[in-house]
Amino acid sequence: MKKYRVAVVGATGAVGRELLGILSEREFPLCELRLFASERSRGQTVRWRGEEYRLETLEDLDVFSGIDLVFTCTDTEVSRRLVPQIRARGPLVIDDSAAFRTEPQVPLVVPEVNPEVARNHQGLFANANCSTIQLVVALKPLYDAAGIVRLVVSTYQAVSGTGAQAIEELRAQTGEALAGRALQPQVYPYPIAFNLLPQIGTFDERGDSSEERKLAQETRKILGDDRIAITATTVRVPVFRSHSEAVNIETQEKLTAEQARELLARAPGISVLDEPDRALYPLPLEARGRDEVFVGRIREDRSIKNGLNLWVVSDNLRKGAALNTVQIGELLIERGWM
Ligand SMILES: NC(=O)c1ccc[n+]([C@@H]2O[C@H](COP(=O)([O-])OP(=O)(O)OC[C@H]3O[C@@H](n4cnc5c(N)ncnc54)[C@H](OP(=O)(O)O)[C@@H]3O)[C@@H](O)[C@H]2O)c1
Repeated sequence: MKKYRVAVVGATGAVGRELLGILSEREFPLCELRLFASERSRGQTVRWRGEEYRLETLEDLDVFSGIDLVFTCTDTEVSRRLVPQIRARGPLVIDDSAAFRTEPQVPLVVPEVNPEVARNHQGLFANANCSTIQLVVALKPLYDAAGIVRLVVSTYQAVSGTGAQAIEELRAQTGEALAGRALQPQVYPYPIAFNLLPQIGTFDERGDSSEERKLAQETRKILGDDRIAITATTVRVPVFRSHSEAVNIETQEKLTAEQARELLARAPGISVLDEPDRALYPLPLEARGRDEVFVGRIREDRSIKNGLNLWVVSDNLRKGAALNTVQIGELLIERGWM
């Protein structure tokens, strides 16, 4: 099997570190690995498969001319600036940030949902937002069977969705709060320990947050249907890992809860946990470190004609970010679309 020269930019971040673990677990076919981070990490090393890798900074971008595939796990602003310069040196880029997701010529790929859009590419792929990925994996089998008219989504999002600094903020604040000391928020506008923040990103003039807009735009792009009406409320919660979503769906055709359960149970990437009598339903602590999108609390919404409710939980750093990114790379290799 052919092996590829791979680079990870943002290798020290929450997504980058998870991605390195997944490249190893899944034995991604690589023959060379280069790791990049910011000036802050200059001189540091990262251990991968028993070997020490020195972190490189991005002074000489010509190093990318010897690379086949680059995973960029950097902030949107950094990706927006860097990715075109890396692309100009030749490698394919799969970018985790929000910089290119809505650009029409950039495939936004969730391999279980829309693998075919990866075929026609111009060398750049976007990985969707973490809250979007788990949502579309759960929606796809229902969409194919019955069509979707409208979605009402409420999210309960873990701090790791904000990155490594936010994980540290929750950890430190939890200790401070239990010790009765005043909390000093830095990453978020208010303390996150023992609190909920109904703000993810920045608000527009209508009062929607950027996360709420991304969820709607990306869901329509990935399902390939601009007509779906979507409204969302996204909330940051004091959970380290795994996003949870309460999803209300109005389908075009009637689906019973039992039909929905069967469709979901057969779909790739989904694990149905739905035995309410035994208090069995998806939980963020149980989803942590797992690859699947977990779906439970599947029931009809009797307030409308064709309504369904779902509770969807998945590890935002795995399926919501690093795993999906690696799966896009694997898809390109398997189908010969590199
Ligand atoms: N976390 C999630 O669940 C999730 C899900 C989907 C998508 N995403 C997206 O994935 C991206 C990374 O998120 P994250 O949570 O991993 O963030 P993070 O923990 O803050 O990590 C950011 C990474 O970018 C590096 N970096 C910053 N400035 C750089 C520069 N000028 N040049 C090179 N590297 C630079 C950092 O290196 P240093 O350590 O040296 O500063 C670090 O490795 C973001 O765009 C995010 O929106 C995240």
